[in-house]
Amino acid sequence: MIERQQLYEGKAKVIFEGPEDGTLIQFFKDDATAFNAKKKDIIKGKGVLNNYISEHIMRAVEQIGIPTHFLKRLNNREQLIRKLEIIPVEIVVRNVAAGSICPRLGIEEGVALPNTLVEFCLKDDRLGDPIIAAEHIITFGWANTDELNVIYEDTLRINDFLTGLFHGIGVRLIDFKLEFGRAQSNDRVEVLLADEISPDNCRLWDAQSNKKMDKDRFRRDLGGLIDAYQEIARRLGVSVPDMS
Ligand code: TMP
Repeated sequence: MIERQQLYEGKAKVIFEGPEDGTLIQFFKDDATAFNAKKKDIIKGKGVLNNYISEHIMRAVEQIGIPTHFLKRLNNREQLIRKLEIIPVEIVVRNVAAGSICPRLGIEEGVALPNTLVEFCLKDDRLGDPIIAAEHIITFGWANTDELNVIYEDTLRINDFLTGLFHGIGVRLIDFKLEFGRAQSNDRVEVLLADEISPDNCRLWDAQSNKKMDKDRFRRDLGGLIDAYQEIARRLGVSVPDMS
């Protein structure tokens, strides 16, 4: 086996050096964390499910013309991705009130928002990913205005597209989180979608029963996380080897 240089270990993934310049390998772990890693566990098979589900969604996003870092799935736990300079901002998109916005603004969970709400958080675990305004992003140079415009437009298109995709399989897309990065292509800087899109960073409710089919099953000790992720994969038509 070839020794690979580990570059970064996050809460749910590890990033290794890639086989060619400008590439990386993204490894999906079984670790589950919540509340800035105050709550932790290992859920056997979660990483494999997220690898396959995220592959499926990234390919679909590419098909609507939004560039992503995804190049190919290498095996059950790894993807080859483009090396990006990650923009240190998490973009949270909300269609229905759930999670942190409820106590923050005194809103009841499940209330449909009159329009799509886009929030920004600084990607900094030490600070607990604080919510920020678009102006902070420009003021502190985390992205420039052109980049922020691309991020905002891509985010809204991804939301429209994924809302429809999940609606088609009887699932409500309540909210999700995106990350973007920049890459030099020829003589210009391109902004690409990064990270993953999986039930770890989306809230997905069954359209009939409103049953939670995402990481809230872990955050709220509801149990049945693997069954829920398997059901999402099954409805998307993604076949995933059972590693649980
Ligand atoms: P929140 O309600 O906790 O702010 O989360 C909103 C959405 O963003 C939800 O789908 C989970 C996702 N998310 C992440 O993927 N990573 C994070 O660190 C946080 C806080 C939320």
